[in-house]
Amino acid sequence: MTNDTILEPLAEDQWFIESQELRSLVATVREINASSIGDRTQALTKLEPYFQELLAQQQWLPEKFAQVNPDSKMGGGIGQWLLYRAKDRSLSVFSLVIPPGSTTPIHDHLAWGLIGLYKGNQEEIVYRRVDNGDDQGHAQLQITEVRFLQPGDIYRLLPPDGDIHAVKTTSQGESISIHLLGNDTGCVWRHQFIPESHTVKSFRSGYSNAPCKEEEKEHA
Ligand SMILES: [Fe+2]
Repeated sequence: MTNDTILEPLAEDQWFIESQELRSLVATVREINASSIGDRTQALTKLEPYFQELLAQQQWLPEKFAQVNPDSKMGGGIGQWLLYRAKDRSLSVFSLVIPPGSTTPIHDHLAWGLIGLYKGNQEEIVYRRVDNGDDQGHAQLQITEVRFLQPGDIYRLLPPDGDIHAVKTTSQGESISIHLLGNDTGCVWRHQFIPESHTVKSFRSGYSNAPCKEEEKEHA
């Protein structure tokens, strides 16, 4: 595994879309986090209705952030569009656009999160790791749940619970999910699992529209 896991703070919070709805959600996340004093389960329970409200409003996500991306580092034409990230990278919001029939790699996130379906349909397979991680490059997974998601459905990530999954679009058109996570998910080195060979490797998805280091901006 790589040691490149420490990300420099950014100069400022970054907003990639202008949306009062999103600004309001981010403000609510901060308020709830501050009042929940480290109780993540309680914080997610409080946050869920606000997140659900954002998903129900269908006019705030610009068309540009609802597109597939043929150059995706995720593969399969999957677009991962950063909408917001905090200066200290402790919070990010992004849309994930999966073309019909495409599936994400099996991956983890390494942070708490709420994910909700905004458009289309998805099948999500949730895994848990059953080996102890001692054997480098080796991983044994077990399926814990299969979910069929419709617009408005949400689920939470509370590592290790629910943190490893793969998502497939089952609708005729692309699916779009909105992700609210407690890290700079596209930029952290996380893990991709290959159950056929019982292996795991380092994985960094990046974003379709934003670099991971500020100095990369000119070249992005
Ligand atoms: Fe994911």
